[in-house]
Amino acid sequence: MRVLTLSGLTFAALFTAACGGADKPAETTAAQSPAVEAPAAPVAEAPVPTAEAAPVAAPVAAPAAAAPAAAVTYASLTGDAAKGEKVFAQCKACHVAEAGKNRVGPSLWALVGRTAGMIPGFNYSKANKASGVIWSEDVLFTYLEAPAKFMPGTRMAFGGLKNAQDRADVIAYLKTKA
Ligand code: HEC
Repeated sequence: MRVLTLSGLTFAALFTAACGGADKPAETTAAQSPAVEAPAAPVAEAPVPTAEAAPVAAPVAAPAAAAPAAAVTYASLTGDAAKGEKVFAQCKACHVAEAGKNRVGPSLWALVGRTAGMIPGFNYSKANKASGVIWSEDVLFTYLEAPAKFMPGTRMAFGGLKNAQDRADVIAYLKTKA
């Protein structure tokens, strides 16, 4: 009986406390609820576009980053000497590919495989003459993309052949000039 009474009292007390406090906490909860949901909504939404943007951005960025990274190697290309002769038109303002004829630039006869700065009678820059570079096909492939970048201080005022196939072609052409 005492236990039951205590239980009843305890229950009543709990009931009263629960009911008495029910209004206030309920209001508080109701008032808080939207407040909690309001920030929760943008927070919940935010990761969604971010998560969607990430996979979208990743594939877009990947090829863009891969393009320069997977920059065409000389070995992967086959130079076409006939096409290279046309590309060489851009060099003709300053070079000929005949032996012993220097113009603004030195003769490019027998260029492939020779050491930089070796043409007699041509007034090379220090940068070129002292470079120690050997004009292998691979080196020419890199040099001709951006001469001043490869050889800072060169007097060759030529922006470069940005197209890798053009470079392979002009190298193929120059190889026939030896
Ligand atoms: C605006 C003139 C100009 C153009 C265009 C030009 N060059 Fe040159 N080139 C020069 C000059 C000047 C030098 C000498 C650079 C130095 O002494 O620093 C040179 C040097 C070089 C050398 C080094 C030769 C050596 O004996 O060490 C190579 C290779 C070369 N040019 C290739 C080319 C090719 C291939 C093209 C065309 C795709 C080209 N150049 C276009 C002016 C030019």
